[in-house]
Amino acid sequence: MVPRFGFLLLFLLIFSLFLNSESKCKKGCELALASYYIWPGLLDITNLPQIMNSPVLQTIQDIISYNKDQLLSENYVETEARVKVPFPCDCIDGEFLGYVFEYQIQKGDTYTLIANQNYANLTTVSMLESVNRYSPENIPESGKLNVTVNCSCGDIKISKEYGLFVTYPLRAEDSLDSIANMTGLHQELLQRYNPGVDFNKGSGLVYIPGKDQNGVFTPLPRSKGLTISLLRKLLICWMLWKEKEKLLSEELVVYSAQTGNDSNGPPAAASITVEKSVEFSYEELALATHNFSMANKIGEGGFGAVYYAELRGEKAAVKKMKSEDTKEFLAELKVLANVHHLNLVRLIGYCVKKHFLFLVYEYIDNGNLNEHLRDPGREPLPWSMRVRIALDSARGLEYIHEHTVPAYVHRDIKPANILIDRDFHAKVADFGLTKLIEVGRSSYLSEHLAGTFGYIPLQNDWSFKTDVYAFGVVLYELISAKEAVLSVGEAGSEAKTLVSLFEEALKQPNPEKRLLKLVDPRLEGEYTFDSIYKMVQLAKACTEEKPARRPSMRSVVVSLMTILSSIG
Ligand SMILES: Nc1ncnc2c1ncn2[C@@H]1O[C@H](COP(=O)(O)OP(=O)(O)OP(=O)(O)O)[C@@H](O)[C@H]1O
Ligand SMILES: *[C@@H]1O[C@H](CO)[C@@H](O)[C@H](O)[C@H]1NC(C)=O
Ligand SMILES: *[C@@H]1O[C@H](CO)[C@@H](O)[C@H](O)[C@H]1NC(C)=O
Ligand SMILES: *[C@@H]1O[C@H](CO)[C@@H](O)[C@H](O)[C@H]1NC(C)=O
Ligand SMILES: *[C@@H]1O[C@H](CO)[C@@H](O)[C@H](O)[C@H]1NC(C)=O
Ligand SMILES: *[C@@H]1O[C@H](CO)[C@@H](O)[C@H](O)[C@H]1NC(C)=O
Ligand SMILES: *[C@@H]1O[C@H](CO)[C@@H](O)[C@H](O)[C@H]1NC(C)=O
Ligand SMILES: [Mg+2]
Repeated sequence: MVPRFGFLLLFLLIFSLFLNSESKCKKGCELALASYYIWPGLLDITNLPQIMNSPVLQTIQDIISYNKDQLLSENYVETEARVKVPFPCDCIDGEFLGYVFEYQIQKGDTYTLIANQNYANLTTVSMLESVNRYSPENIPESGKLNVTVNCSCGDIKISKEYGLFVTYPLRAEDSLDSIANMTGLHQELLQRYNPGVDFNKGSGLVYIPGKDQNGVFTPLPRSKGLTISLLRKLLICWMLWKEKEKLLSEELVVYSAQTGNDSNGPPAAASITVEKSVEFSYEELALATHNFSMANKIGEGGFGAVYYAELRGEKAAVKKMKSEDTKEFLAELKVLANVHHLNLVRLIGYCVKKHFLFLVYEYIDNGNLNEHLRDPGREPLPWSMRVRIALDSARGLEYIHEHTVPAYVHRDIKPANILIDRDFHAKVADFGLTKLIEVGRSSYLSEHLAGTFGYIPLQNDWSFKTDVYAFGVVLYELISAKEAVLSVGEAGSEAKTLVSLFEEALKQPNPEKRLLKLVDPRLEGEYTFDSIYKMVQLAKACTEEKPARRPSMRSVVVSLMTILSSIG
């Protein structure tokens, strides 16, 4: 159904995105800020330009310009306060972001003194030991030392609005609460920039969005996104055209609930409960999200931005997207709001305001599967938990395939749409959205109707089996923690799907060795090959090229239950 040309475009788009995030760091940014705690004994800050000397810091004026509200006089600050010191942020050895200062050794210096006082814990003794050839006992009385201070340039996946970051050494008096209070940023956002970091631990670094000399948050530079956005626009145009063609030929597929009428599951009508969906006023949502402030923004996907909200005493996630409120559209919304299942993120309510639609979802507060699989700040998920998560998501998916009226094809199954709660139960998010967009004829979102490359089969028919295919890819990701599309070959010149990687391994005369190489090393061998192999077999069945050969979600659930029971 998808013509070659469109596929190529999609491929290019995803691949370009992929290249951007491939190595640990490619390029630094011109500027970062260091939060320097004025320790008792440092009488004034006149020495700072010397200690923290760099191309962006030559004179005391360079510091003053970032601390206009703090400095009591020219170079005097209260002790036990912090000043922001500008420094460049480079990509060091392609490994991490930081800057290496040249420090002029003073008589009596020790690594501890340099780390804890002169550099106010912006560096550590172990970092000093690793970048200098002198052992701690043999520091000369003069000469130079390397002092590395880490930094951050922001993350387009979290927010485009922040491109200048403060490297902030935590002290005992700091907490997530106090830093959120001080910066006016939401705790959620701060935590997302520092995954897995305990802000109460009293030491270590965190990265927090910073303001420039004019006192405003600096957004990420636009240039890099330009080519991507150009590609995106092209893609959208093509999709729009495609969409129009589809509507004209009345090909629009409406999925009926034939399958919802079977004897096993609960009666289909049971999913439409008495509970009425809630319509929220725009004012209420604006209030709950601090007027959709950047601080409340959790992230952004293909459909729109997501905001954290506290609504009627409950945590919620509000998805803001463009849409027209046609009659069909409102009817569709009401149906969606009545679908309840333990493994589906619940739609609590909605709000339609002019050309915008706001969907209010229950808030799931432990991140998404993508983060849990690949974020180095997250503890690796043990194997049995991964199987559990697969089973949970399969159940959610089975429910919308077989037990709702109408039945839904999700169309966008991927780890980012599998949310994890406190107890590490998984819930499928964003189901029914594509359908909603179809009825809402929301033009600029149509791009998303194409799903995500790597998760859709080459010959796609947008049936339930499309979701089964995508689910198979998720299973491979749970096993390997690799992304759905990988770059291989010299300098990552070639893109390859995870599906083809596993298929190659399975074709070997003795696949065991090759498969074991693909297993996520962070599992550290804590699994039985038997269960891995069963999971691979299941994923392989799900990703068969012919839709009819893929199992239904119901039999996927059964298989996963079997695997789970075999590992206890
Ligand atoms: N109900 C929710 N509770 C908590 N976090 C959520 C919720 N819904 C979405 N998020 C988070 O918000 C971010 C953006 O979600 P969004 O759905 O807009 O993008 P996505 O899932 O990456 O892509 P897509 O648009 O294809 O779904 C994601 O990191 C997601 O984990
Ligand atoms: C650096 O950390 C040490 C140990 O936690 C602490 O005693 C010291 O006061 C800190 N220095 C600064 C400048 O914050
Ligand atoms: C500082 O780093 C440079 C470059 O890595 C190295 O050549 C030099 O020897 C280091 N200085 C010390 C004192 O170790
Ligand atoms: C700085 O980054 C490096 C590489 O990621 C890491 O090993 C080191 O612990 C970091 N230093 C601090 C003080 O966080
Ligand atoms: C947050 O800041 C306000 C004033 O700016 C203050 O009254 C309040 O006590 C602070 N809360 C915390 C937890 O620091
Ligand atoms: C469900 O089954 C009943 C009887 O078995 C039938 O009358 C009804 O049309 C079926 N509904 C759907 C949506 O298939
Ligand atoms: C909320 O945003 C709207 C539109 O940007 C603006 O007109 C309004 O004044 C804002 N309200 C508050 C309380 O900030
Ligand atoms: Mg999503």
